[in-house]
Amino acid sequence: MTRGLMTVLKGSLKSVRDFTALEGINAEELAALIDLAETLKDVLERPIKKVPTLRGKAIANVFFEPSTRTRNSFELAAKYMSADVINFQSSGSSVEKGETLWDTARNLAAMAIDAVVIRHQVAGVPGLLADLLDVPVINAGDGMHEHPTQGLLDLLTVKAHYGRIGGLQVAIVGDVLHSRVARSDLWGFTKMGAAVRLVGPPNLLPSELEAPMTSNLEDGIRGCDVIQVLRLQHERQTSGAVPSMREYRERFGVTRERLEKWAPDALVMHPGPQNRGVEIDSEVLDGPQSAVLSQVQYGVAVRMAVLYRLLGGTHDI
Ligand code: CP
Repeated sequence: MTRGLMTVLKGSLKSVRDFTALEGINAEELAALIDLAETLKDVLERPIKKVPTLRGKAIANVFFEPSTRTRNSFELAAKYMSADVINFQSSGSSVEKGETLWDTARNLAAMAIDAVVIRHQVAGVPGLLADLLDVPVINAGDGMHEHPTQGLLDLLTVKAHYGRIGGLQVAIVGDVLHSRVARSDLWGFTKMGAAVRLVGPPNLLPSELEAPMTSNLEDGIRGCDVIQVLRLQHERQTSGAVPSMREYRERFGVTRERLEKWAPDALVMHPGPQNRGVEIDSEVLDGPQSAVLSQVQYGVAVRMAVLYRLLGGTHDI
């Protein structure tokens, strides 16, 4: 084990049992998790990506909503640390016969599970489960509330690019109202000393969030260091907030021309999945300023860090 890793592991981390939101985590704890993820990402660059640190532990991935990045990266993170994993998806399970969330969780926990990773369409479910279960609960996205491991991976992506987070200007652009990523990013970047502004149609900017807001894309992204583009969430639009995809793109679409004019040096991120040609153009998504695949790569490392912290991994890395 390297001296750097020893320092990270022996750092002043408080005892944490669950990981359900970034809002309640202090800056010191966040910084420690980012440091740990930075160290663990070295494991992903080894020819044999396997360490014994969570050997003998069992993790349940419990997903009530679709996922590509989060579910698979939690599974890989657990497997790279030698834990066993079960993947539960509500579709095809006894939930379809009417079994409640609580009974589902209790039954999974009875199989000697050591941690539950849960994604649910209702805000607050991971926090509720954390109160009810005796094992650590990790929020993999709950309704429009938070997606804390996405927030962490976004922080790590920015730190890896700029070498720091404090002092940067971060614009979160798009459908903020329906976005759990926007909330976790707002808490995370603000705690780490960045200045965050929210950009989007007025009816998709929730007034209760404490951040400067604008509905003018140029004002919002001009001179920014980081632009996090959000997915327009068709499935959560209930009030016809956006007249049409074409109009949305005309006012808020991040195009190559706009980026060149207003933020030529910004790091462009998107949590995925993307609506190409709506909130972001393919030329930007696949262009030199895009960090979207780094985000996915760092997602494995931050999920390793969170599992390690909550399950008390051995130092054998
Ligand atoms: N960013 C994210 O949560 O992606 P998935 O829905 O694919 O997990």
